[in-house]
Amino acid sequence: MTSSSVNRVLGKPVDRIDGRLKVTGAAPYPTDVSFPNMAHAALVQSTIAAGTIRTIDAAAALALPGVLTVITHETAPPLAEGPMTPLGPAPRYPLKDNRIVHHGQHVAVVVAETPEQAREAVRLVRVEYEQSAPVLGITTPEARVTLNPYGMDVRRGDVAAALASADIVYDESFHMAPETNNPIGLFATLARWEGGRLLLHDSNQWPTLTRFVLATVFSVPETDVRVLVRHLGGGFGAGLRAWPHVVLTVLAARIVDRPVKLVLTRPQMFNSIGHRPECVQRLRIGATREGRLVAIDHEGSTTSGAEETNFEPVTMATPAVYDCPNVATHDRLVALNIPNPGAMRAPGHVQGNFAIESAMDELSYRVGIDPLELRLLNYAEVDLPTGNDWSSNALRECYRVGADRFGWSARNPAVRSMRDGDWLIGYGMAGVTFGWYASPCKARVSISRDGTARARSTSTDIGTGTYTITAQILAELLGLEVDQVHVELGDSDLPPAPQSGGSGLAVSLAGALADGASKLLRAFLDIVGSDSPLHGRQPGEVTASHGRIHLTDDPALGETYTEILARNNLDELGADGEKIPNPKAESTGVSPNEGGSGTSSHTSVRGMTPAGPFAAQFIEVRIHEELRVMRIARVVSVVDAGQVLNEKTARSQVAGAVVMALGMAHLEETAFDPTTGRITNATLGDYLIPVSADIPDLDVVFVGEPDRFNPLGVKGVGEVGVVGVPPAIANAVYHATGKRLRSLPITIEKLL
Ligand code: MOS
Repeated sequence: MTSSSVNRVLGKPVDRIDGRLKVTGAAPYPTDVSFPNMAHAALVQSTIAAGTIRTIDAAAALALPGVLTVITHETAPPLAEGPMTPLGPAPRYPLKDNRIVHHGQHVAVVVAETPEQAREAVRLVRVEYEQSAPVLGITTPEARVTLNPYGMDVRRGDVAAALASADIVYDESFHMAPETNNPIGLFATLARWEGGRLLLHDSNQWPTLTRFVLATVFSVPETDVRVLVRHLGGGFGAGLRAWPHVVLTVLAARIVDRPVKLVLTRPQMFNSIGHRPECVQRLRIGATREGRLVAIDHEGSTTSGAEETNFEPVTMATPAVYDCPNVATHDRLVALNIPNPGAMRAPGHVQGNFAIESAMDELSYRVGIDPLELRLLNYAEVDLPTGNDWSSNALRECYRVGADRFGWSARNPAVRSMRDGDWLIGYGMAGVTFGWYASPCKARVSISRDGTARARSTSTDIGTGTYTITAQILAELLGLEVDQVHVELGDSDLPPAPQSGGSGLAVSLAGALADGASKLLRAFLDIVGSDSPLHGRQPGEVTASHGRIHLTDDPALGETYTEILARNNLDELGADGEKIPNPKAESTGVSPNEGGSGTSSHTSVRGMTPAGPFAAQFIEVRIHEELRVMRIARVVSVVDAGQVLNEKTARSQVAGAVVMALGMAHLEETAFDPTTGRITNATLGDYLIPVSADIPDLDVVFVGEPDRFNPLGVKGVGEVGVVGVPPAIANAVYHATGKRLRSLPITIEKLL
């Protein structure tokens, strides 16, 4: 099939097809679902960070009206070990024994007739502990430090020699506070066993993985587990794993032999579903007097749980970001008595880039070159780790367009040189080279006798717009209107899909849909019959438009889908689409991001490296000279996302990411009490996030061309918008005040 060179609906700012459902309350989120005869679970959580449970007494709780059971490590049946997953071993099952490894660990589950009864009973469960000293704090000498088990360390050239002979040696350390994803939709799980089959409604970003983990833990075939995630109120990485509360809800439903629902409380959202780990980095850079980089040595350490690992690739992007012959990276995990961290939007990547892009700004002052010019001077023309050309790269255009829209040329480079009355003004910028990620994905595509199409895939829409882009892609490829495409997602009984994560789903799903659409058109051509004007035609000779397949050369010669189906007495014709991102590299394991059975840009294909998105971000801050209040005045984000699928939802992705990153840069910090390990600000009243009044005008613009690596030219856009903001702010703060801050968040105290 020839597609017209100008897209009809692809890329257009189409309103969300599920928007009306959502704003009218008709879209079922996991918290909204209920089953007849449903019981309610609530969690009892540890009040110590390390030790053992000496006794646990549930008698008073069990005596309350409505309480059905209290499950503890003493009463829980043994379950099978969780499997290895692309993100590491499945999270530790907490009722296995009496050990406590973090504050807030689940130590019992109460099941009752109502949520209120369950929560009241939680307060009556008496637990006595044998405490031991917890290991807390990323710099504590007692902490066990290990090589990051995901094996990301890289060595190129001779870093030691290059540093020793460099004109300029930069050597600084960075600290970033832990923070918490906090999707507004409280995570909920609803489990119902029907005979040996499990039906689960759950808040997660990866139903295929949740099914795999539960099938393993409960020793049932995967085909006997169905996981539904029709809508999700945000995830940001928190929904990438099958967390212990999910296992416990399923167990509770089995024990009481009724459907059971568990909704995490907001404080439990802080300690049950991961968080962005605390991070320390040391970055050494060698450069010539003229500003050319000769060596980068990048160490990154992040916290993990005491007995778990977390995939946090802090230095993974470093070998590719600048043209530098000698590079070494070292990633470490520091095991603490804290809830295991997890992925949070641009995990690792945003931390690493904070150090690199802060350092580039610092170097620019040492060599006396404009920060933007210094980046262009060290521009990575090719993918350095492989020497390959990128499949697409418009980073240079991101810089140019961003500088232009922002008015970078008006910047006086001297610190403290720009002001507006009492407000010091700072301009800062940063670049982003984001990793490519895609994973095998399937989708079933069909057209019915009424002329409408249907797409089905396990893929989830976590609020990002997956329903809408799916409809747009099929409408484009099959020559239909967007409202003629029905989309079914978020059901593990549908064709399997990877996670909505790692900025990889749109790439993977678009590939599966494109494959499905082309197979479907082929299938229609196969059944047209000898009287049809389409008889004997090849896909390359026809075009689909207005619900009809016609000869590209002669649009008058064609037939509608409905005519072809009717003649064949068919209600529906379907095809199975599949995307295998890179067959040669299927075994490479983890992604540059969330991991997965997918492939990453560390693998080259046909002399070309698949590129992720690129971006440049420019920010103006204003700091009150006496009060040291900081306001973010303007943010310009220019993103090369290849072929944008929907200009509106893609823009929302970037704008939302910028808001999240503004929080990271100057407000958000998950505070662990240094002696008890308790999270002391686990409410949205105490944990500061940006509100509308904190957010200035957000300018988002897309540049670049469709990427060469996949049929629709798509590059993921979910995370890239986070990555340049923290360093651009820190760089702007320096420009405004002369104060170099290498520690996040940049709170008012640090500006004094
Ligand atoms: Mo991920 S942190 O869900 O892209």
